[in-house]
Amino acid sequence: MKKPDIYITTPLYYVNSHPHIGHTFTTVVADIVKRYHKLFGRQVYLLTGTDEHGEKIAMAAQNAGVDVKKFVDDNSKRFKEVWDLMGLEYDDFIRTTEERHKKVVRYLLQKLHDTGDIYFASYEGHYCIGCERFITASELVDGKCPDHGTVPKLVKEENYFFKMSKYVDTFKKEIEKKPDIIRPEWYRNEVLGYLKEKIEDLCISRPKDRVSWGIELPFDNRFVTYVWFDALLNYISAIGYPDNPEFKDYWNVSEHFIAKDILRTHTIYWGTMLLASGLPLYKHLNVHGYWNMSGMKMSKSLGNVIEPTAFKQKYGDQGLRFFFLREMHWGEDSDFTMERYIGRYNTDLANNYGNLISRTMGMMEKYYPNDEKIEITKDLLSKHPLKDALENVIKSYKNDFYKYEFHKTLELMWALFDDTNKHIAESKPWEIAKAGDKAALCKTLAPVLEIIRITTYMLTPIMPLVCTQILNELGFEGAVNVKFDDFTKWGYSKTFNVKYKNKKFFERIEQ
Ligand code: MSP
Repeated sequence: MKKPDIYITTPLYYVNSHPHIGHTFTTVVADIVKRYHKLFGRQVYLLTGTDEHGEKIAMAAQNAGVDVKKFVDDNSKRFKEVWDLMGLEYDDFIRTTEERHKKVVRYLLQKLHDTGDIYFASYEGHYCIGCERFITASELVDGKCPDHGTVPKLVKEENYFFKMSKYVDTFKKEIEKKPDIIRPEWYRNEVLGYLKEKIEDLCISRPKDRVSWGIELPFDNRFVTYVWFDALLNYISAIGYPDNPEFKDYWNVSEHFIAKDILRTHTIYWGTMLLASGLPLYKHLNVHGYWNMSGMKMSKSLGNVIEPTAFKQKYGDQGLRFFFLREMHWGEDSDFTMERYIGRYNTDLANNYGNLISRTMGMMEKYYPNDEKIEITKDLLSKHPLKDALENVIKSYKNDFYKYEFHKTLELMWALFDDTNKHIAESKPWEIAKAGDKAALCKTLAPVLEIIRITTYMLTPIMPLVCTQILNELGFEGAVNVKFDDFTKWGYSKTFNVKYKNKKFFERIEQ
């Protein structure tokens, strides 16, 4: 691959459970962002994968009565299968049990041990297995972990520690200097809030007699590496740290996508680990909120999950991708209910966008039969009010989308569809056709076709399969091989040769 313009990562998902809609969301967003940038000719590299060591996974394997290696192999495969089934365009899938990753973990542990940033001591703290980390007293709510609702267990043992406290000030200065390093900004403020507390050093080992499923410390074989210290390093091990001469090309343009549950680990832990290793911080940390079910975070431990494979079998995945982006306001929580999904799908996709396409293509088929082309000349398109609204959508797509404020662009785009549907209702092309005035008919339909062509192109990263099909039926190849600034030009297409095959692109979901 050419030098990347953006290196995108998702979290590495724990293999103690199967993928649900929450995991699917982050991975789908990463895929959409990749496809979005590709429209502008940018090179994007997308990494995802699975987090496979630690106490939580070892316990899950034991509870399932399966050998832990087989357990992680099977469950990791499931994540990969689901991403493939959803058609996600990842470039690499890393597993923390792979040798290419383990050797980087060992390398870095040794390096930090040699420089004195890792030391041996005894420790007592409250450990939440769900989070796989020690919880500070200020995080506890009624003595329980706020994310898992469980009482952390008191653990006292001798371990190795990473001098996290030594790097906290530098980390704080770095994020103060870079207002958009953590987005949206309120999460950056939240992190600055954490940094007001005293940050202790990080316990980065587990004695093998308690947890043996992990990467052995290179300097003490009685211990394995703490799972977060291991997993976070995937972001650099996957791109060949430290030997790959191209490593920096990737790292300098890195963007992590995570939900807020792992904000602390991706800032205080990961930030200080990077600084101690002599590496710059990631370029951006993009943080989204939770998909909730009845106000509770969707999660395996709470048992309230929607399973992506079953969802896809019943409803497909194009509508889901749209729903994800339209419904969640980036950074905030959102409720996932089937009522909301079906409501959004029927209103926005079936009734509005879908109907606009079907009626327009239906008219084209009827009024321009036998391969007759509609010629688009400049005077047919000049100064149309729909054009101004479209320019606004394009501007928002370039700006808001880039900040992951997807819903704003989609809101504007759907208002444009309303106006376009209104334009059809008011100009009554069927009466013009009846009167046999082809020139006037062309003048009415040309802006509608342009709106559909350009917006469908812009929607391709969100609904690649169906949008490509729509573009094909409009007589275009699809979004590949055409540059954004060319294809979104009003009047870029000189003719439309509609070959309408689908009677409906978005069938209503009847309950
Ligand atoms: N293994 C760690 C991450 C290590 S990264 C080096 C982990 N794994 S996880 O399986 O629990 O995945 C957490 C991530 O899954 C969240 O940050 C988010 O990306 C996604 N989500 C899981 N449940 C979710 C929701 N209910 N809503 C939104 N995103 C969700 O943490």
